[in-house]
Amino acid sequence: MKAMVIEKFGGVEVFHEREAPKPAVKAGHVLVKVAATSVNPLDAKMRQGYFQPITHPFPAILHGDVAGVVADVGEGVSRWEVSDEVYGCAGGVGSYQGALAEYMLVDAELLAHKPKKLPMRGAAALPLVAITAWEALIDRAKIREGQNVLIHGGVGGVGHIAIQLAKWKGAKVFTTVSSEEKGAIAKDLGADELIYYKKEPVEEYLQRCTGGAGFDVVFDTLGGATLDVSMQAIAHFGQVVSILGGSTHDLSPLFKKNGTLHMVVMLAPLLSGNGRAAHGKILETVADLVNRGVIRPLVDERDFSFRQVGEAHGRLESGKALGKVVLSSPWHG
Ligand SMILES: NC(=O)c1ccc[n+]([C@@H]2O[C@H](COP(=O)([O-])OP(=O)(O)OC[C@H]3O[C@@H](n4cnc5c(N)ncnc54)[C@H](OP(=O)(O)O)[C@@H]3O)[C@@H](O)[C@H]2O)c1
Repeated sequence: MKAMVIEKFGGVEVFHEREAPKPAVKAGHVLVKVAATSVNPLDAKMRQGYFQPITHPFPAILHGDVAGVVADVGEGVSRWEVSDEVYGCAGGVGSYQGALAEYMLVDAELLAHKPKKLPMRGAAALPLVAITAWEALIDRAKIREGQNVLIHGGVGGVGHIAIQLAKWKGAKVFTTVSSEEKGAIAKDLGADELIYYKKEPVEEYLQRCTGGAGFDVVFDTLGGATLDVSMQAIAHFGQVVSILGGSTHDLSPLFKKNGTLHMVVMLAPLLSGNGRAAHGKILETVADLVNRGVIRPLVDERDFSFRQVGEAHGRLESGKALGKVVLSSPWHG
């Protein structure tokens, strides 16, 4: 089969097209004919070599997000049939080849029915970010109606789904953005209040948005210095959910407020084999929400082919994309 691979870590130029062995279907798995994928920051970090121990071995086929059609079904799989349209976040790590190829072997439990309302491109924008936002707000923080929820980076990949999930749960949603253009998009996605983080320091927006009381839940999609801001921004008994580790922090702002810090690593089921069915279930619910018009993916205006994957990574890394950067397979037919 055809694939876009990397055989060394580096810049966007490391991708090239080559023949790769078509995976054979195996028990508990399905073979997906790939139609589309999307770029997540994780894919760019893997390409650069930041996650070498968990990256698919060379010649590495990257990208977790996939939308496509079931082409073959392994023993013991009753949920899927050939021709089913599916989506999921299912590879590019460990022994699991990613989506930048004609075919992808996928654990059947990780998949869900593609939202009927979306084309393949739209569906491919969702899996990684939707699972992450779901695990953060619904599984960890268990957000409830009427809570004040602050979402950092509300027009980012994870943030734009988080805004919509929080609104669906009845929360009052505050979000940080960098520009008026992004502010308008965040409002359109359902955000109640905007915070222009480059202009307004945390002390000021805490006062303006909560009268100084703090937010019930802060979803931190940035880590680093923003995690310190997030801990400062919670109310008494408030919760912070972070999706980035790797930095050191003084926990006293959290301690003083009886606060809770949750972490989400959405790749864990894919890496460990535990909890994969939960991802399939989340994506079935997300598909239903999409079909009912509750959630929609924000997709960048630029359309890329798999053969332009380097440019697509460049688009994400430029910070100029508005929404998820999506790629369509030239081999899907
Ligand atoms: N642990 C996990 O399971 C997990 C899962 C998914 C993602 N992640 C990680 O989470 C991060 C976000 O992922 P993503 O897909 O949402 O990335 P993304 O699409 O690049 O979005 C990041 C957003 O953050 C905003 N931003 C940058 N600096 C900011 C600041 N100081 N304050 C507030 N907003 C700021 C950017 O918009 P502006 O132009 O408005 O600044 C951008 O919209 C990445 O590092 C990714 O690797 C982790």
